Amino acid sequence: MVGSMTPSSRFLAAKMLNHIPINRAKVVVELGPGTGVFTEKILEKLGVNTQLIVVELNDDFYNTFQNKFQHPNIHLKHGSADQIGIYLKELGFEKADLIISSLPLANFPSDLRKNVIETAKNCLDDKGTFIQFQYSLQSFKTLKRIFRSVKVEFTAFNFPPAFVYTCSK
Ligand SMILES: C[S@@+](CC[C@H](N)C(=O)[O-])C[C@H]1O[C@@H](n2cnc3c(N)ncnc32)[C@H](O)[C@@H]1O
Repeated sequence: MVGSMTPSSRFLAAKMLNHIPINRAKVVVELGPGTGVFTEKILEKLGVNTQLIVVELNDDFYNTFQNKFQHPNIHLKHGSADQIGIYLKELGFEKADLIISSLPLANFPSDLRKNVIETAKNCLDDKGTFIQFQYSLQSFKTLKRIFRSVKVEFTAFNFPPAFVYTCSK
């Protein structure tokens, strides 16, 4: 379920998030926060009116997150990433401007992987961005099939080194 031995590095967090206008987004979704390495970085850049929906499946990470991050703009959901459409509706939002994912897609059964990526696309605003990292290029083809544009970057400064996909509709 976790898909990694260690939390992501600040270099990977920077590669994922530095060029993304989080402060101008209305709704940001984070999938699979784990210990919250990316959440901390997202919070640094969060606009006063930006709402952050965080989806975590693992009980321990969910409970730890609840205690660690208390912020009026964070909406934490305990469940699976393929339910983001439902979570957005429950909170009164139609679409997300940014979806930031550290889900271990390579470990998912192919149906779930495809379902999560398609759901993310359907939940994004037309001008929205989906950002995902992976330790290999395993999901590149699937992302290319589903999104109009997929930009790939690489950072060696992570254990393991990682690819970052930035996808647009
Ligand atoms: C590789 S860890 C990433 C943790 C952290 N964001 C980081 O980069 O260090 C993957 C995270 O995805 C969560 N996860 C796995 N499957 C999930 C699912 N179907 N829905 C939501 N979260 C999931 C895991 O519990 C874990 O927190």
